[in-house]
Amino acid sequence: MRRDTAAGVQGQAARSLPEHVAIIMDGNGRWARGRGMARHAGHRAGAKTVRKIVEYCGQRGIHALTLFAFSSENWRRPRTEVRVLMELFLSTLDRESERLHRNNVRLRFMGAREDFPRRLQQRLLEAERLTRDNSGLQLNIAASYGGRWDISSAARRLAEAVQAGALRPEEITPERLGQEVCLAELPEPDLFIRTGGERRISNFMLWQLAYTELYFTPVLWPDFTPADLDEAFSDFAGRERRFGQTSEQVEGRESGRA
Ligand code: IPE
Ligand code: IPE
Ligand code: MG
Repeated sequence: MRRDTAAGVQGQAARSLPEHVAIIMDGNGRWARGRGMARHAGHRAGAKTVRKIVEYCGQRGIHALTLFAFSSENWRRPRTEVRVLMELFLSTLDRESERLHRNNVRLRFMGAREDFPRRLQQRLLEAERLTRDNSGLQLNIAASYGGRWDISSAARRLAEAVQAGALRPEEITPERLGQEVCLAELPEPDLFIRTGGERRISNFMLWQLAYTELYFTPVLWPDFTPADLDEAFSDFAGRERRFGQTSEQVEGRESGRA
């Protein structure tokens, strides 16, 4: 792996470090199985990786980090695994909230939170309230989240506004709908990372990832390190983002339609 010099890192930060990184943290189960352990041991190890990666993103000055922790489809897993995941979610929150707050991290949760046990819902609200004025890393945890849920919830809110006479159907545009989906207040993810080797989106941020750069790594989430993240950043730095335009336009050698 290429090791940047201090000056190199600075140059990269100014030029091409992503502002918003979204990660599907996959591979906990396989990590555990490979060690002859139960799947929940993989989830515990994965929670430690979350801590390290969040800390590192703070150090690198990343503006926003969105982590897929539990999908709307993960409820279909065996009941004991779901229970372990809920307990881990709750205990991690209890242990980490204060520390994140001290580090100026703002926490947000996105997903169908009414699906969670009451006690957990309460903790999510408390953590959001505690950290809401923090201006450091914007940390978003997607839990009981699905991209289709996100878009359909947004559509329903717009339909309600139309029904109430506050919005006309012709005012429903990509821009307007984009204001209703999760994390509308943040820039869309620049870089998407999926660990664990699968090359699919699995119903993560379908709307917000429209022009995100995709990066897949075989590294299992519990094994994922800041050096692996740096490798993804380096790969990202080499991409040309065209947003539908030509290379010449992006490089400023040719302008767009008048
Ligand atoms: C990701 O790891 C964590 C969750 C989905 C909650 P997995 O549990 O999906 O791990 P694999 O894909 O089975 O290895
Ligand atoms: C996606 O991983 C969800 C999370 C990592 C939270 P899955 O392991 O659930 O995805 P599939 O089932 O392999 O598509
Ligand atoms: Mg998986």
